[in-house]
Amino acid sequence: MTLRALSVGVAGLGTVGGGVLRLLRENAEVIAARAGRPIAVTAVSARDRTRDRGEDFSAFRWYDDPMGLAADPSVDVVVEVIGGSDQPALGLVMACLRAGRPVVTANKALLALHGAELAAESEAGGAVLAFEAAVAGGIPVIKVLRESLAGNRIRRVAGILNGTCNYILTVMRERGREFADVLADAQKLGYAEADPSFDVDGIDAAHKLTILAAIAFGRPVRFADMHIEGIRGVSALDQSFARELGYRIKLLGIARQTEAGIESRVHPCLIPETTPLARVDGVYNAVVIEADFAGRVMLEGRGAGAGPTASSVVSDLIDIARGRATPVWGADRSHLSEAPSVPITVHTGAYYLRLMVVDRPGVIADVTCALRDAGVSLESMLQHGRSPGETVPIVLVTHDTRESQIRAALDRIERLDSVLERPALLRIEHG
Ligand SMILES: NC(=O)c1ccc[n+]([C@@H]2O[C@H](COP(=O)([O-])OP(=O)(O)OC[C@H]3O[C@@H](n4cnc5c(N)ncnc54)[C@H](OP(=O)(O)O)[C@@H]3O)[C@@H](O)[C@H]2O)c1
Repeated sequence: MTLRALSVGVAGLGTVGGGVLRLLRENAEVIAARAGRPIAVTAVSARDRTRDRGEDFSAFRWYDDPMGLAADPSVDVVVEVIGGSDQPALGLVMACLRAGRPVVTANKALLALHGAELAAESEAGGAVLAFEAAVAGGIPVIKVLRESLAGNRIRRVAGILNGTCNYILTVMRERGREFADVLADAQKLGYAEADPSFDVDGIDAAHKLTILAAIAFGRPVRFADMHIEGIRGVSALDQSFARELGYRIKLLGIARQTEAGIESRVHPCLIPETTPLARVDGVYNAVVIEADFAGRVMLEGRGAGAGPTASSVVSDLIDIARGRATPVWGADRSHLSEAPSVPITVHTGAYYLRLMVVDRPGVIADVTCALRDAGVSLESMLQHGRSPGETVPIVLVTHDTRESQIRAALDRIERLDSVLERPALLRIEHG
């Protein structure tokens, strides 16, 4: 017996929506075989009905208001690819879940900010909320973390979660160029948005890390607890010093189980150039998961784009067609943890500190005194040549120290007459 087709309503016909339509059409046969029945789009919604999207929509019901999809009784599952953490995406997903209708979404902002309410609604109504596409585009990281590694305790998740930042940092490193310059080019090439702040200020990566951390540690989303720094402060000079020291600078999202609770942070950091994550360049994304029994697992691939993101959306549709369902955060709400979040001030690790100082006697002594008084010990120091009376960079690498200690030292160092610019401080990670 052939089951009837799964009827899909697609809200949003932009990059991802268009990709979903094309993938369902072009791979219809293989998808039907794997889903056990055909998967067919029957209704769509977007703002502008007159826009030429290179697709014929005449066979689909069209809704100017996406809420029409939630109310359409012949739609089995709604794909929300409008974006944004507010309306109409939030109202649409809520309405579907309340009506017991499964939803597939690629919307990380929505999940990071409203994931707790949405998961509660999904559990109460018994409707699947699937979101493989929301983190790292075409990389199947949700499934791996939530299902394939379900028997493990996760110790740490670290990832390159924003392709725009990774592209900018890669070009800065390879060509010795400054951030603003590379960003302008990335905007021209379409790798960065006209308003790049969500990407370059680390917000987008933090949304994705919020989702990964919720699954990894079985704890409801806590976006507000995340420490977030972007890449605007990374300079070509730091890239060059990092290389000299055997590191690469990457924007990482890191969530880690510590004895005191869960640490989650997004910031640029130095990672040893020999580690697999350091080798992930350009617009690629990658995630490393450290699990107690499975060990280290690394996934790499395309983190955005119509094809990769549609691939993840369609894999969720196939699961729904097959009746496969997993709780949103991997466990029912009653089994989620209430582990506290750990503030960045108690983070312990090594640091890279670059100062621009006037080259005169006693400067290094003043700096090292401030570090010593704060209990920070040095692993190495780098200074090239001498230019008496001129401004020169010096780079200091610390042994493991608490964030609060290095910050205390930095406060004093910044006030020294001989220190001319705001020092650059970057954390060092093991990758
Ligand atoms: N692009 C990627 O590579 C990628 C990767 C992973 C995840 N995502 C996520 O996927 C989602 C969609 O991204 P996208 O890049 O496809 O966005 P997009 O290209 O900007 O498309 C958004 C679509 O939503 C429609 N829309 C906007 N407001 C609407 C409203 N009020 N009512 C009905 N339709 C509305 C737009 O309609 P009009 O076309 O008529 O303006 C457009 O078709 C976002 O959550 C994004 O974070 C995207």
